[in-house]
Amino acid sequence: MLKELNDQMNAELGSAYLYLAMAAYFEDLNFKGFAHWMKLQAEEEFEHTMKFYHYIFERNGRAVFDALEKPQEKWDSPLAAFEAAYEHEKYITGRIHNLVRLATEENDYATISFLNWFVDEQVEEEASALEIVQMLKQLQDHPTGLFMLDARLAQRQREKE
Ligand code: FEO
Repeated sequence: MLKELNDQMNAELGSAYLYLAMAAYFEDLNFKGFAHWMKLQAEEEFEHTMKFYHYIFERNGRAVFDALEKPQEKWDSPLAAFEAAYEHEKYITGRIHNLVRLATEENDYATISFLNWFVDEQVEEEASALEIVQMLKQLQDHPTGLFMLDARLAQRQREKE
């Protein structure tokens, strides 16, 4: 179980790295609002990383960091980037569910309880990415709409846990 938790800690850090790469992509296009949204997302992923980090030590384990995979630098459009973000969140959800399954098999109730926060969080993570995907689809790369959405996403604030 500890090995799997450690892998997930690295996956969360990889998520932060991916969202920073997406932030840089948007920054380069001068979409400051999209970039802001991605930077906050990266910060959240770093917090997820640290939750695993602390939990591993609480359970008398040892956090070990792997090499991070180089993230993609460019996407075909803002829509393509947010679709990739949504797909990534679905992938992370699948990983969390696998961890819950493993913890259940091992009767590791403390880890199930720890992971439940992530089960709930993933519902929000998928929903927020999907909402933006759907808005971008409706806009169909219309410049005025893109700039309006960019201004809206610039308002994103950190969620309180
Ligand atoms: Fe840490 Fe976006 O899942």
